[in-house]
Amino acid sequence: MSPTANNTAPKVSKAHAEILHGLTAKQKHISPKHFYDERGSRLFDQICQLPEYYLTRTELQLMDSYFDEVASLVGPRAAIIEFGAGSNIKIRKLLDHLLEPAAYVPVDISGDYLLKQAAALALDYPNVHVQAVFADFTHPFELPQHPVMPERNLVFFPGSTIGNFPPAQAQDLLEVMRLEARPGGALLIGADLRKDPALLHAAYNDSQGVTAEFNLNVLRRLNTELNGNFDLANFSHQAIYDETHGRIEMRLISRKSQTVSLAGQEISFEAGEFITTEYSYKYSLDGFSALARSAGWEPERIWVDDDRLFSMHYLTVPGSI
Ligand SMILES: C[S@@+](CC[C@H](N)C(=O)[O-])C[C@H]1O[C@@H](n2cnc3c(N)ncnc32)[C@H](O)[C@@H]1O
Repeated sequence: MSPTANNTAPKVSKAHAEILHGLTAKQKHISPKHFYDERGSRLFDQICQLPEYYLTRTELQLMDSYFDEVASLVGPRAAIIEFGAGSNIKIRKLLDHLLEPAAYVPVDISGDYLLKQAAALALDYPNVHVQAVFADFTHPFELPQHPVMPERNLVFFPGSTIGNFPPAQAQDLLEVMRLEARPGGALLIGADLRKDPALLHAAYNDSQGVTAEFNLNVLRRLNTELNGNFDLANFSHQAIYDETHGRIEMRLISRKSQTVSLAGQEISFEAGEFITTEYSYKYSLDGFSALARSAGWEPERIWVDDDRLFSMHYLTVPGSI
């Protein structure tokens, strides 16, 4: 197993220019993709274990209940392309249910973590061709060749990471997925649902402070990689639910008026000014299906838990394999 770093792999200088651009904008922002160095990926795994973070727990329950049905829809010898792979828990469940899966292609921007996770998985599934791709999945990327020709491509995108993208960008990303799945291919995707704002607030403001640590980690990363001097004690985590847009907005708030140096540039903050670090859009079932349709996907099946917290969707690309 070796990684493919293709031409869409994030170039360090491009990522840094993007960060500086965001931090000098009128409303300061950093894309959530920059959370994920190895420490960020591990902190995210801790978030998934938190009692307040119903998303992972509920999605795993849906997987346990419905992966037999998913396996019969997908059929034998599929290649699974996982966008934003993270840890291996969900893909192991999927591989354990699918019929003779041919290949697994985890795609992620967190390169070191991706390689470690993919290597561990390859050891445990010797019959599955595992080929990691280090890339920014918002742009089309080249798929590796497999020794056994897969019968179809299945794009796997759990975790409601789709919620990090505002609607127009989410549509673009779903189009990239459709291109990678190819005609006759399929998509299995998790989407978090609209619900009582109190539950959402608790999930993104956990009592142990892990989400705060995850949010602040992006500044730690900037200090290391972009020669920054952010004092983390001068910023605080905030996550609020914006009912109008149906999204959680995560922020880092400047506790005081301050100037920070980053890659030789001075960035000033007023007291109370904030950096937007993540959106997490929540969907209705119809709203998500309409979004997916607008990107050329045909909705086939939707599974939802009894409390209607989370949804798992199976969609296909029209055309023959
Ligand atoms: C919210 S985590 C979800 C992880 C896992 N799929 C799950 O369901 O628990 C998002 C994952 O996507 C990756 N990621 C985020 N933005 C990305 C991008 N633009 N390109 C590639 N990977 C990205 C992160 O590194 C991280 O592993």
